[in-house]
Amino acid sequence: MENAIKRIDELISIINKSSYEYYVLDNPTITDQEYDDLYNELLLLENKYPELKREDSPTNRVGGEAIDKFNKVVHKTPMLSFDDIFNEEEIMLFDERIRKTVSNPSYTLEPKMDGLSGSLIYEKGVLVRAATRGDGVTGEDITINVKTIKSVPLRLTKDIDIEVRGEIYMSKKSFDKANKERLMNNEKEFANPRNAAAGSVRQLDSKITAKRDLDFMAYFIPNPEDYNISNQDESISFLRELGFVTNIKLNGLAKSSKDIINYVDNLEKERDNLPFEIDGVVIKVNSLEDEKKLGFTSRVPRWGIAYKFPAKEVLTTLKEIKYTVGRTGKITPNAIFNPVHVAGSLVGKATLHNYDYILDKDIRVNDTISVRKAGDVIPEVVEVKLDRRKSDSEKTIMIENCPICNTKLIKKDANHFCPNKDCPARHTEGLTHFVSRDAMYIDGFGERIIEDFYNEGFLRSVEDFYSLYKHKDEIMILDGYGEKSVNNLLDAITNSKKNSLERLIFALGIRYVGKKTAKILAIYFGEMDKLMNADYETLKDINDVGDIIAKSIVEYFNNEENVKLINKLKELNVNMKYLGEKVDASNENIYGKTFVITGTLSKSRDVYKEKLESLGGKVTGSVTSKTDYVLVGENPGSKYDKAISLGIKIIDEKEYENLINL
Ligand code: IVH
Repeated sequence: MENAIKRIDELISIINKSSYEYYVLDNPTITDQEYDDLYNELLLLENKYPELKREDSPTNRVGGEAIDKFNKVVHKTPMLSFDDIFNEEEIMLFDERIRKTVSNPSYTLEPKMDGLSGSLIYEKGVLVRAATRGDGVTGEDITINVKTIKSVPLRLTKDIDIEVRGEIYMSKKSFDKANKERLMNNEKEFANPRNAAAGSVRQLDSKITAKRDLDFMAYFIPNPEDYNISNQDESISFLRELGFVTNIKLNGLAKSSKDIINYVDNLEKERDNLPFEIDGVVIKVNSLEDEKKLGFTSRVPRWGIAYKFPAKEVLTTLKEIKYTVGRTGKITPNAIFNPVHVAGSLVGKATLHNYDYILDKDIRVNDTISVRKAGDVIPEVVEVKLDRRKSDSEKTIMIENCPICNTKLIKKDANHFCPNKDCPARHTEGLTHFVSRDAMYIDGFGERIIEDFYNEGFLRSVEDFYSLYKHKDEIMILDGYGEKSVNNLLDAITNSKKNSLERLIFALGIRYVGKKTAKILAIYFGEMDKLMNADYETLKDINDVGDIIAKSIVEYFNNEENVKLINKLKELNVNMKYLGEKVDASNENIYGKTFVITGTLSKSRDVYKEKLESLGGKVTGSVTSKTDYVLVGENPGSKYDKAISLGIKIIDEKEYENLINL
């Protein structure tokens, strides 16, 4: 008996040491045969003296009696997880945010293991309890199953009390092996190693878990200060010392977002060569002191984040098929689904092209669909998961009338069309004009975006630009609209409210009012109300305006709809005043004076006009009693005569130069 105790102790320590060398150090010192012999010897002794069987004996790894349920376990400290991010921009924002609290942060970078997290509690160096994360506060006691995991040390190298967290996962090799077996036994294959690991660890019969060949990667100590640890990378070294498998060789350190992005890129390239599945990079602030400063939000730690690699194909649920009308009247069915991250962006919509496409794939509302990005850009519905279809699902029926104007659709080849030439869906041109460079210049809006927003119903009239912010969340789930680009767009819209009047006049799209006329009108009237109330006579007499434009302007403002629009824009605080170029008011001869130019001068009239306006002068088209000066070139026309008859001061080019230079 004395001898048996001694031998059992010896065997356990040799076996545990060789497991450590095999799993942790990746450097076995005994052969498999020697290991098996030692193991069998131990098994024999334990059978002979069951009372001597130790808690940390490796023979526990085969599993024990089946249980009928998992007991609940309350975690000593909640098992939180990090917020997820999906692109470089968000990495940079994370780094910026950290720098608001911590100067010169340094980060640990760790492969994000794709399994399920587990908490292991050791007392005096012996594994006494293992639990799933559960809801973060309460998990399930899976001790008996976790003991079967060979890379989980049953006894640590130090006799300490400690909680260790890490990922329970299935290696790619074990996953392939498990699926081969399942195929042979006519069982349904595991979808991926994560599901396989999660299913295996929740077996009530731990003997089944034992056969599944799971692994454990340690990455976190909830209370490192108890062990005099002051950095996350020291935690990893300490875990390794204790006998855990860690990713010490793959982990990295970073001092900037650039370092992080580099690591992410490299790891993604290595991803397929790794023996286990990873789904991203976990970024943690290295210094525990900094970690304390950053603390937690109400939900998640602020000191770390999980970057997720772009998923290539993702499952989601089809919520709705929405029909849109293009500029040619073509009807396009679109799949609207619960938003998912695919290849780096959040996607909630994909084109279904036409009704034949829907029929071909038999796509129905409420179906589980898989979505990917074709050529990594355009989202598409790959297939319907027919085995997940609800029994009450109904075949999709094509709409018969235009969703915008209700006209009966016609079919040409595979496509349906709205034949109504006046269908409002075709009228996005006005919106495109409104934002264009010479108009309100709302940067970032192309024709496609306008069409998208029109089709979504966010934009029907130009005043809707200024309420677009209300649709921010909806816009973000459209393909290609990241938070930053949407913010830029919304900022550009807000900034456009400050535009000088000439831009708004041009943006309204009044017939014949081009960019140049808009400017003339803005300068002349100074504010929108005056322009709106101007009569035909006044307008016609403005230099460069004339009969046709004057009529068109009067007609435009006689239309009640247009007046309503202007009033709405006013309410939305869109500027209605001419802000002018910086006017130099120092020359009293010019400032506030009205000029008329007639006859041929040495330079184009615009040159004089611009100069006069820059000094606060007004240049008009016809001579009235209000005219202060008439600038006369060669061969002047009737304006010259009128000026004389009204006794208005006439100047030639030379006198003009003198006036200017005073
Ligand atoms: S640290 C406070 N490190 O990814 C979170 N987690 O949100 C502490 N994971 O649910 C976890 N690899 O299951 C950490 N190297 C790693 C990880 C990792 C995978 C999982 C973990 C957690 C999620 C992160």
